[in-house]
Amino acid sequence: MIKANKHYSKLNASYLFSDIAKRVSKFQAENPNTKIIRLGIGDVTRALPDACIKGFQQGVAEMANDTTFKGYGPEQGYPFLRDMIAKHDFQARGADIAPDEVFVSDGAKCDTGNFQEIFAQDITIAIPDPVYPVYLDTNVMAGRTGKFIDGRYEGIVYLECTKDNNFLPKLPKNPVDLIYLCFPNNPTGTTITKSELKKWVDYAKETKALILFDAAYEAFIRDDSLPCSIYEIQGAKEVAVEFRSFSKTAGFTGTRCGYTVVPKECMIFDDNGDKISLHALWHRRQSTKFNGVSYPVQKAAEAIYSEEGRIQIKALVSYYLKNAELIRLAMSELGFNFVGGDNSPYIWIDGNGRDSWEFFDMLLKKAGVVCTPGAGFGKCGQGYIRISAFNSRENVEEAMLRMGEALK
Ligand code: MLT
Repeated sequence: MIKANKHYSKLNASYLFSDIAKRVSKFQAENPNTKIIRLGIGDVTRALPDACIKGFQQGVAEMANDTTFKGYGPEQGYPFLRDMIAKHDFQARGADIAPDEVFVSDGAKCDTGNFQEIFAQDITIAIPDPVYPVYLDTNVMAGRTGKFIDGRYEGIVYLECTKDNNFLPKLPKNPVDLIYLCFPNNPTGTTITKSELKKWVDYAKETKALILFDAAYEAFIRDDSLPCSIYEIQGAKEVAVEFRSFSKTAGFTGTRCGYTVVPKECMIFDDNGDKISLHALWHRRQSTKFNGVSYPVQKAAEAIYSEEGRIQIKALVSYYLKNAELIRLAMSELGFNFVGGDNSPYIWIDGNGRDSWEFFDMLLKKAGVVCTPGAGFGKCGQGYIRISAFNSRENVEEAMLRMGEALK
């Protein structure tokens, strides 16, 4: 008899964004004349930058000719892309990352979800609350938690991020082995300073823990004093893995490309406390389970780092940041407290005592606007909604007008 992985039964019936998509489709079917504006899932709406299109087309053209055709590529990514990433995203900011420490992938969702596979079953995991659900759900699937009781999985150390701590997690009171951090944060849009981030790096070094640092939204940082990478912090290469994505940076949500940095200094431990290279383990995992990102997509990603590509990417991100500014302005005028949206595409709004899902339903029904209920990101998200700046200017302006009317 074929049996199911029993840990799946601990999960909520569906993934947060699938659940929202179902509710929105149902509403649309019942209200076919409503023009719904989606400010829920962070999905980009603007075309790929011209430089990326040219890179993509060049890649496709090469695939059309026997002499330039590419079959299987290196699982870790082509050197032309890994070199660009190491040079522009890290070395240019003083972080000494080598091209062979970069593992190109089809996106940060897969990598942040898959990475937990290479750790022991009985590790203690610290996860922020609220949080991007992938970190938590994938550890539930792997059997590292107990049951879901009163909004929390047994066995997880939750790092509460609330208005009382400015949505910045505090160091855990008891030792943990694995720590997930995300800055600029999804869902709250908050950022972390170098000195705050250093506390986490120092903590991980002292306790032999590992930090999984999700920097998928670093391109939205416009305050030069903030770290774009954890490797800007001294010592981080020994204790941190970093995830990056071209999805929001360059409009690649449908194109699929990102990468993970696993420094060679980064060590984990066996049962005897002997060191094991994390780089070697991730290399082993990827070469067994992953066959690389398609060649034309990697050519499109390479073009991000060309001179014209860098200008176009900056303009693309600025467009969404302007949307975020309009959302912040509208929320201020409506009298809401919020964080995020200045160095981030997400605005985290306190619903003034409203239940998250009720607020979500009200905005959908009365304004035809989709947001993300904060409670979907964890217990501490209850009472909040997240608004994403990823849409056209016209739609954001229209959505803010409609929300103003609905909330009168
Ligand atoms: C989000 O809306 O939180 C993100 O778009 C989800 C993702 O990147 O997978």
